[in-house]
Amino acid sequence: MDKRNAAFLSARCAAFSSLARLRGSAWQGQTNIMIMGWHMILEFAPSLVGCYVWTENHSFGLIRCSRECVVNIPTVDLAAKVVDIGNSSGRDIDKFATYGLTAVPGVKVKAPLIGECFANFECKLVDSGLIRKYSLFVFEVVKGHVARSPIYPRIIHYRGDGVFMISGENTHRYRRRFKPEML
Ligand SMILES: Cc1cc2nc3c(=O)[nH]c(=O)nc-3n(C[C@H](O)[C@H](O)[C@H](O)COP(=O)(O)O)c2cc1C
Repeated sequence: MDKRNAAFLSARCAAFSSLARLRGSAWQGQTNIMIMGWHMILEFAPSLVGCYVWTENHSFGLIRCSRECVVNIPTVDLAAKVVDIGNSSGRDIDKFATYGLTAVPGVKVKAPLIGECFANFECKLVDSGLIRKYSLFVFEVVKGHVARSPIYPRIIHYRGDGVFMISGENTHRYRRRFKPEML
């Protein structure tokens, strides 16, 4: 296999595609939405996720002050809106109104859920120790809402450089090799 030296950005495009999620936030009567691609699972029970939020984003202040957010999973039918949301700032526009999305009240957090999204996870900030150094917020998922069908919705991954990947085939082909206790 012939391999070339890969700069960080092309490595990211090839290897680290990330699920495009929409993150909703609210503080002092103002709501907002941003795309979130840089995130990781940190623990299953409690359910912890680590999310990078750039300090320049309007969402940064809303999330840091309110200490909560909602992670929403959009499906491919929302792809154009997802990109537009990522290309605009809540400093300039009301993204719920501009993109015709429905703000649904949360159960455990004040940040609204996006009604059109397949799944919504209400999150509370449980560790702020890495924000100053890495802009990394550690959230606990305190409530989840997931549509009953389809079981495998067509979701969107960001591959970098403006390229997106849409989920397609699902397979049980490897299930016999799979050890549930390892994952
Ligand atoms: C596909 C994609 C993924 C992104 N992922 C993140 C992310 O994980 N963290 C982040 O801080 N910004 C991310 N961004 C950039 C923000 O979504 C973008 O700056 C957004 O418009 C900020 O909105 P706001 O100013 O209203 O908070 C991403 C952008 C795109 C297009």
